[in-house]
Amino acid sequence: MLLGRVGRLGLSVASRRCASGSVGAASSFRFFSSSSRDPVPGYDWDALGFGLNTKDTAMVILTSDEETGEWSEAKVSPYAPMMIEPSAVALNYGQALFEGVKAYRTADDRLVVFRPQENCRRMREGGARYALADFDEEMFLGALDTFVDANAHWVPPAGKGALYIRPLLMGLTGQLGVAPSAETTLCIYGSPVGDYFKNTGAGGGVTPIKLLISEEHDRAAPKGVGSTKAAGNYAPCFTVQKAAREKGYNDVLYLDAATNTYVEEVAASNFFCVRDGVVHTPALGTILGGITRLSAIELLREDYGVQVVEGKVSIEDVFSDSTSEAFCVGTAAVVSPIGTIDRSSGSKQWSYDESGYGPVGKWLFDALTGIQKGTSEDSRGWLYEVK
Ligand code: COI
Repeated sequence: MLLGRVGRLGLSVASRRCASGSVGAASSFRFFSSSSRDPVPGYDWDALGFGLNTKDTAMVILTSDEETGEWSEAKVSPYAPMMIEPSAVALNYGQALFEGVKAYRTADDRLVVFRPQENCRRMREGGARYALADFDEEMFLGALDTFVDANAHWVPPAGKGALYIRPLLMGLTGQLGVAPSAETTLCIYGSPVGDYFKNTGAGGGVTPIKLLISEEHDRAAPKGVGSTKAAGNYAPCFTVQKAAREKGYNDVLYLDAATNTYVEEVAASNFFCVRDGVVHTPALGTILGGITRLSAIELLREDYGVQVVEGKVSIEDVFSDSTSEAFCVGTAAVVSPIGTIDRSSGSKQWSYDESGYGPVGKWLFDALTGIQKGTSEDSRGWLYEVK
């Protein structure tokens, strides 16, 4: 398949952007670097869903030195299996974090990444909690630059999705002892992606998503690691999510573990609702501090001019008649309107206009994606351009 694509698209193999990785990339995988930054010609950019849509990409790997803690140069290699020991700390004891970042092609053909400095901050904070080696912003942004540059042809045409960038921070030293890995690896891979929720409705609007409240499982404990983007926070959601999807729900809504009365977050996005004209969103603590959440709060307060309260969001209030609208936000989810929330004792439903959104969610979606696509002014300097 890979060779077929080369033949069909005439991409050149491995340019100046390609070198071998230090963690032992398997040689059967190859990536194809285009001398042009234009989107891969002939690729079906309209069919993108959220997933690993191609493996014909480059990945970037850096490792911290076991003795000195100093980081290696960023090495670019084909996306490929990495050879790691079965005793790697990340596999045995879960010493692994990830990030989700998006690069967009703007209408005037610039390649921009949305607020990667915030991903860097969050990953460093998580790294401190997980005893992984620290790094600075210059290193993180440099690695991201290298990644986007090597995969520029996988940044979709303007308005057709994004290049989803997945930095992983992992302890890969092989050992049996219950102790942090001596070495930390930062690996960045990614794929062009489209919508996270397959919710495009008839007539161009979106279909609001349906959520099921998790009543048997909690996502995060007070004083636990729910606020980190630890890989291990996501697998426990799989069975709950699968059961919900089998019943026709798009995702699961989690309540607080201590009392089961306050909204925490959707499995992979943050929750917002509008009650009596005021926007409410769960306060930081056990939830993941989303970068889209942060941006949404700022845009709503400063540009839309609405009051946004970060606090306890009672599920009873969400179910009350005064809650006129709900939506969730995330790098992958962007701004997705919520149409239904179900629990064993009842159902709450909202109906919106033909766009599929309530007024606040729609304004936010347009404001946010306008900045990301470069069609609205980026007055806050949120776009990081890869030149
Ligand atoms: C993101 O929104 O980028 C996430 O990391 C959530 C998810 C896709 C796991």
